[in-house]
Amino acid sequence: MNPFSRILASGHAVPPRILTNADLEKIVDTSDSWIVERTGIRQRHIAEPGSALSDLAMDAAQQALDKAGISAEDVDLIIAGTVTADMKFPSLACLVQEKLGANNAAAFDLSAACSGFLYGLHIANSLMQTAGYKHVLVIAAEMLSSMINWQDRNTCVLFGDGAGAVVLGPADDNRGILSTYMKSDGRHHGLLYNPGGSQRPLTHELIDSNEATIHMEGREVFRHAVVSMTDALHEALKLAQIAPEALTLLIPHQANVRIIEAIGKRFKIAPEKVYVNVDRFGNTSAASIPIALDEALSTGHIQPGDVVGLVTFGAGLTWSSSIIRF
Ligand SMILES: CC(C)(COP(=O)(O)OP(=O)(O)OC[C@H]1O[C@@H](n2cnc3c(N)ncnc32)[C@H](O)[C@@H]1OP(=O)(O)O)[C@@H](O)C(=O)NCCC(=O)NCCS
Repeated sequence: MNPFSRILASGHAVPPRILTNADLEKIVDTSDSWIVERTGIRQRHIAEPGSALSDLAMDAAQQALDKAGISAEDVDLIIAGTVTADMKFPSLACLVQEKLGANNAAAFDLSAACSGFLYGLHIANSLMQTAGYKHVLVIAAEMLSSMINWQDRNTCVLFGDGAGAVVLGPADDNRGILSTYMKSDGRHHGLLYNPGGSQRPLTHELIDSNEATIHMEGREVFRHAVVSMTDALHEALKLAQIAPEALTLLIPHQANVRIIEAIGKRFKIAPEKVYVNVDRFGNTSAASIPIALDEALSTGHIQPGDVVGLVTFGAGLTWSSSIIRF
């Protein structure tokens, strides 16, 4: 199977402020040992209130462009996966477009929660084939700290802020995106949601009651995450005609180390071939995969010729995957 597009380069950015489990012990009734044992998370980066997600996204995107040697004016399309854009509208993608000076691009956001990056990759790869785009920025950026209920220990320990980006260009021989896959099941939207929206516009009552924050049925989400990510990885491998043992590295969504381990075991992938950074970043939602991918690329965990699997799961429910030869 000949790929059509490939990842030319990547970048990531996180806010400087680190919130440790010890810090959280002072805010809610929790403990470092509970958080580490149940999630694998030790710390997360949290943005200062009032800071702009578009700045983090711009930083990640600029790094990707610089490494690829592509000027912002050569970008034809910007897709940003996010549920926490700077404002309700216009899109984060348009704000980043201005900050980059990518004046020849079309730009839009997509809402697929933690699946935002891989949904974006799927759409970018498809549009490059059908609409002739040559250089596409796929950005995923999230500031979930802006919608966390800091009194809810079930959710506030899980999430972190950050941004990741890749720039796509034409494939080079057999190096590139071998497959992409995406799927949703809206019947389970009530397992993970934030109700603040057009049906319930922000009122004093909604804010004061802490309602307009993240609500989650943790155990059910966990169960669906394992089933859906297994489906997604299976489908992407099938489409790419790649066996699980041929993967050099698997980068799963960084939500919980127990979910990550369960996926690795189901595909009999050795733990050293499964990338983990959830301990340092927590769950950064859509940004989780491109942050991990950029780390893996810049630290030599991915070498030319390696075949890498990416798989994710998020609110919606949504799930998505991709197989890439670097
Ligand atoms: C949230 C999660 C870590 C909870 O772990 P769990 O083993 O399922 O724990 P439970 O929800 O069954 O709760 C067990 C107990 O721990 C308590 N608890 C929950 N959060 C806690 C915390 N931060 N510190 C201490 N105790 C906590 C619960 O209140 C519950 O107490 P109870 O038995 O007295 O009622 C886990 O369900 C999970 O990771 N789910 C997936 C979440 C996710 O990935 N979301 C994003 C998807 S993109």
